Parts: sequence; structure tokens; C-alpha cells
Amino acid sequence: MTKSVLGIIGGSGIYDLPGLQNVREERIDSPWGEPSGPLRIGDIGGLPVVFLSRHDKGHRLSPSDINYRANIDILKRAGVTDLVSLSACGSFKEELPPGTFVLVDQFVDRTHLRQTSFFGKGCVAHVSMAHPVSPRLKHRLDEAAGKERIPVVRGGTYVCIEGPQFSTYAESMTYKTLGYSVIGMTNMPEAKLAREAEICYATVAMVTDFDCWHPEHDAVTVADIVGVMQDNSERAKRLVARLAADFPREHERCPVGSDRALDTALITAPEA
Ligand code: ADE
Repeated sequence: MTKSVLGIIGGSGIYDLPGLQNVREERIDSPWGEPSGPLRIGDIGGLPVVFLSRHDKGHRLSPSDINYRANIDILKRAGVTDLVSLSACGSFKEELPPGTFVLVDQFVDRTHLRQTSFFGKGCVAHVSMAHPVSPRLKHRLDEAAGKERIPVVRGGTYVCIEGPQFSTYAESMTYKTLGYSVIGMTNMPEAKLAREAEICYATVAMVTDFDCWHPEHDAVTVADIVGVMQDNSERAKRLVARLAADFPREHERCPVGSDRALDTALITAPEA
């Protein structure tokens, strides 16, 4: 039996996890380079919890400068079995106004400057990304939100852009027309790498703005985002505290195979 270790990646506005107890800060070396920062390792209600600030304190790292491989690698080395990404995002839907939490179930990767795999050059693997979010982890987030009376929307597609600029009006309208729900700059390749590392992954996409498509809202500014983020992050921290308190102590087998993704993915012959 594998013991559960819950990982939390805090995005914009979430640089620590106040509910974490018995905390020690640990810098773990990675052969993949510099991670965003040290891990904060502790527990919540007895469950081991590992926190990483994606942009580091003071928001030092731009989305394109984050070393996603090193981040996922050190979380794996710390034993994380289940990883929750807390991420600010823009919205393409009237019914997802700022302040909404969306438990997304799909991603579209529009990034182009990032290292997206641990594999290649001598060891090739093709993991399935058909279902990038672990349904059980998403369900646990949903249950925790219910207990905390935090409304959440179940399901949606998160399109990840390279940034750091926000989208043009034409881009925003395109994503909206394609039916995407929310937009952010960080969850890809993070979700892909988590899958390659056989870590269950789910995102709480926290809406801060309507991007720039909405006729009755000005184009997004950082000031708008920061205003909404503070309230979002207070609820996110409550959600995580409840999730951790109720989380199963033994890792639950993932119905879509996130925790054994490599069983069917390696293509390079072992003797090659
Ligand atoms: N993060 C928060 N709002 C965003 C937006 N509109 N576009 C991309 N990333 C975001």
C-alpha cells in the first residue's frame, strides 16, 4: 500500500499555506535544474502535505521561466502521490464570473517555449493525456468544497498560453468560440509532466477576470486580477485544509491510470 502525500502548487496570489503544521523547508536538488523554490513540507490533520510556490515568493518567476520539470521532479522525490494546482485564470463564459472556482477536466496546450517531457534522447515514452485530470482527486476537491460551502463548477477546459502577455481580442474570441472555459499561463506542461511522473493531478482554476472578449468589461489588467485574487486565495486555502483533513491516508488507485501511466508508455527497447 502506498501512503498518500498531498502536493499543493500555489499559483499567483498563493505563496504559502497557512494551515500547514510542523513545517520544515527543504531544498531538493533536481537533475532537471532549478525548481521554483524550496518545498514546505508538513502535515494537515496528520496527512503529509508538500507545498510549492510556483512563481516563488515575491512572484519572481514569469510563467515561461518556471522550470516545470524540476518542480514536478522534486515533488515526486518528496513522495507526492496527488497534486493539486491552485491557479488564477481568465474566463470565457458569462456564467463563470470572477470569483468562480472551476474544477477543470481538460487542457489545451498553446505554449511553445517550454520543456514538456522528461523523455526523449535515448528513452522515449508516450503517456496518455486523454484524461489529464484524475477524476478521484477532482471528486475529493468537489466534496471538500461542498463541506466548506465554497461553490465550484464541475468540468471545463483550460487553455494554457505562453504569456507573459495577455491574449489579443482575436485570440480571446477564438478561444471563446472554440468553447474553452478558462485561460491561464501555467498548467501546461505541468499536467503533462505530472502524468509522466505518475502523479495524480487536478486543478482548481480560480477566475479573476473575463480576459478581453467581454463587451461590458474592460480588458484585463494586473490590478483587476490582484483585487479578486486575495478573496480567491482565502477560499482556496480553506478548501485545501478541508481536502487534506478528509483525504484517504492510503493512496487510491486512479481510475484513468495517472498513477501507473508508464506501464503502457515506454517505447524504447530496454537493451537499446
Ligand atoms: N491569469 C489570470 N487571468 C488570465 C488571463 N486573462 N489570461 C491568462 N492568464 C490569466
